[in-house]
Amino acid sequence: MSLIKTPVDIQAMREAGRLAADVLVYIAPYVQAGISTLELDRLCHEYMVSVQRVIPAPLNYHGFPKSICTSVNHVICHGIPTDKKILKNGDIINIDITVIHQGYHGDTSQMFLVGDCSPLAHRLCKVSQECLYLGIAQVRQGATLGDIGNAIQTHAQAQHFSVVRDYCGHGIGKVFHEDPQILHYGQPGTGMVLRAGMIFTIEPMINAGTHHTRLLSDQWTVVTRDHQLSAQWEHTLLVTDTGVEVLTLRPGEEIILPTGTAVVTG
Ligand code: MF3
Ligand code: CO
Ligand code: CO
Repeated sequence: MSLIKTPVDIQAMREAGRLAADVLVYIAPYVQAGISTLELDRLCHEYMVSVQRVIPAPLNYHGFPKSICTSVNHVICHGIPTDKKILKNGDIINIDITVIHQGYHGDTSQMFLVGDCSPLAHRLCKVSQECLYLGIAQVRQGATLGDIGNAIQTHAQAQHFSVVRDYCGHGIGKVFHEDPQILHYGQPGTGMVLRAGMIFTIEPMINAGTHHTRLLSDQWTVVTRDHQLSAQWEHTLLVTDTGVEVLTLRPGEEIILPTGTAVVTG
């Protein structure tokens, strides 16, 4: 299978990406203290199925039981929505949305701060978003996957945070998770060379403590081994002739780097 998408694929991926982004915009006002992660799942499911007419990709994916992933505080990724998990003041939560539209996947996630959060929680969420944006800023023809990973790792470690190594970004298209694997750490100038028409996610998981993970007995929920906070942001990206297009950019979202410069996409 070629890693280069056709113009038809690319147009469908733009639509899938926009639909995934729209689910995050839809759910944002509901992310408040007192709501359960099951209710967030129900709202997103209903919006995807009845309004957007897309398929929630996580549902039944390798047996995943719900339509979205909700990862709270020390949960790194793949948290399962449940009526037992009620958001409280000071929580941080990642909501990860993947839709299937006309056979094509759009995959994106973001952090939400619930009420008054600690300075550490604020800093972790901000730095992990900057890590995503710095990774995106590396994306262009001729750059390497190691350039992306290195930009992310360098920023996280400069802030005394760690990069999760056990999970990574991925190629995406008609298949949810396809080649190549996108590591969020690495050395500049190493690994696969990017070419126009490639589509993949960048989705750094950044921990306040060590990078080590533990899989809970439900076989899905991934937590930090030291139970410290973790944060993640994700976009689906297209390598273009001139740079990068962020297929899951939200309306009003501007990609600003810590240097103050903006990444122009699309
Ligand atoms: N959306 C996740 C990703 O970014 C994958 C979730 S798989 C699931 O790749 F089964 F947990 F939903
Ligand atoms: Co993904
Ligand atoms: Co995702």
